[in-house]
Amino acid sequence: MKTILITGCSSGFGLETARYFLERDWNVVATMRTPRADVLPHSSRLRILALDVVDAHSIAQAIDAAGPIDVLVNNAGIGVLGALEGTTMASAREVFDTNTLGTIAMTQAVLPQFRQRKAGVIVNVTSSVTYEPLPLLSVYTASKAAVNAFTESLALELAPFNVRARLVLPGRAPETRFGENARPRMEGAIPEAYAELAQRVFAGWSESSAVTLAQDVAEAVWRAATAPSSPMRIAAGADAVALAGSR
Ligand SMILES: NC(=O)c1ccc[n+]([C@@H]2O[C@H](COP(=O)([O-])OP(=O)(O)OC[C@H]3O[C@@H](n4cnc5c(N)ncnc54)[C@H](OP(=O)(O)O)[C@@H]3O)[C@@H](O)[C@H]2O)c1
Repeated sequence: MKTILITGCSSGFGLETARYFLERDWNVVATMRTPRADVLPHSSRLRILALDVVDAHSIAQAIDAAGPIDVLVNNAGIGVLGALEGTTMASAREVFDTNTLGTIAMTQAVLPQFRQRKAGVIVNVTSSVTYEPLPLLSVYTASKAAVNAFTESLALELAPFNVRARLVLPGRAPETRFGENARPRMEGAIPEAYAELAQRVFAGWSESSAVTLAQDVAEAVWRAATAPSSPMRIAAGADAVALAGSR
């Protein structure tokens, strides 16, 4: 029986991915900044651990408590939507600390066991905005594009040890808590000079019918985790698949 550890399981893609793997008889280590047992079905194969990916001590404790794992999913992430002029450096740092350095730190923490066992898969969740950039997302897009580059280089470094690294690139998913969780970083992030552009961007989003569902991401993670021949980049969601296909 295989074990998957997923970051950011309190809501959205992480939560759905935890459910998806539980239903398929995997052992699941669902990690959250604030552990909550009530969001997932009770199962003897489920463990819920506290983990904040920007805290080195928290990472060490969670990896220690998790024991051997077969698949790591770096899903925890935060957004910031706004013009660069209106984005504080504190917000930019927070986004890179979580999305980019959090992913790197988690990956580093599992590597010794993967390398020694000559087995393991790292699945990094980035975004379809790295296929086709959108305005007002420069910092967020950069934080995810860095993870794409990191993962593609690392995959080559780990191949001799039979350790795989893969990317899952979801499209826009309005059903998760992502937008709401980004709000604190969006205070004053759209100065008047960018208001018209922002209106156009938001109108485009409300018109587009193709979106990504949490289930699409769980399925893409499943493919990355279980199919050794899966491609490096797996688009998740109808909108992301369309963008990937147009590249
Ligand atoms: N929704 C979209 O449109 C979209 C599109 C493409 C890619 N993505 C990416 O998909 C991933 C999941 O996003 P989502 O849409 O499911 O959003 P979400 O519902 O906001 O879930 C994000 C999760 O990350 C956790 N998290 C944030 N900072 C963390 C930290 N320092 N340590 C550990 N966990 C942390 C959150 O936990 P708390 O509850 O503790 O805040 C939450 O569980 C993110 O990497 C995001 O960038 C999202």
